[in-house]
Amino acid sequence: MTNQRSKLVVGNWKMHGRLAANAALLEGVAQGVQSLPAEVRVGVCVPFPYLAQAQTLLGVSRVVWGAQDVSAHEQGAYTGEVAAAMVADFEAGFAIVGHSERRAYHGESSELVARKTQRALAAGLTPIVCVGETLEQREGGTTEQVVGTQLDAVLAVLSVEEAARIVVAYEPVWAIGTGKSATSEQAQQVHAFLRARLAAKGAQVADVPLLYGGSVKPENAADLFRQADIDGGLIGGAALKAGDFLAICAAAGVGASVAE
Ligand code: 13P
Repeated sequence: MTNQRSKLVVGNWKMHGRLAANAALLEGVAQGVQSLPAEVRVGVCVPFPYLAQAQTLLGVSRVVWGAQDVSAHEQGAYTGEVAAAMVADFEAGFAIVGHSERRAYHGESSELVARKTQRALAAGLTPIVCVGETLEQREGGTTEQVVGTQLDAVLAVLSVEEAARIVVAYEPVWAIGTGKSATSEQAQQVHAFLRARLAAKGAQVADVPLLYGGSVKPENAADLFRQADIDGGLIGGAALKAGDFLAICAAAGVGASVAE
């Protein structure tokens, strides 16, 4: 099994961090990535207030920074919302959209996630579109139906050219922050399904990066990243420690170069 696509590992800090701790983490990551193979791309998605800090401390490194959400609106009277163009002002590269925590705690529908994806693309950001099933849905046998519907809602509003510019992250809700990762076989199975769904949109869309997220750790990263349709990871808890995050990025390098 060989996966020829380059690897992408993105940290999602969620609502963690303060200025002083961030500085140490960002500097540690910026320094550590220097020894990674060139085919491994690395990103960090920080809370909005720290975009300027990420820009300052990562500016000359190969690490790309981004936000964890964007508004579905372009601008206007939307108190508390942050527009994609504002994120882009800080030379950000990524915006996560549709994370399961936003879907669950903020009632975000797939249609809203689709609009956020459009806003991110229009602002020149790469949206990282998250999909994933709950434990109940997995046990009920509806995993593919759930993630397929979530992905289709986004693909439906994008042109083929736009769809080719997204990143998709499969994050089973039951694996997020639980220490219980999907097995590499379980993840690969869903990724293969998502890959086919992307390919159905158009040949150019078939190779968009498909990341796995949910309790990725240095210990399980290499096995996950070796799978045919897993192009990297979206990392929560382990992205808050430079050593762990860099070890996961290094595992992506190993996975990218090993042919089975
Ligand atoms: P954990 O790596 O902490 O399980 O979080 C995954 C996640 O939600 C990344 O977006």
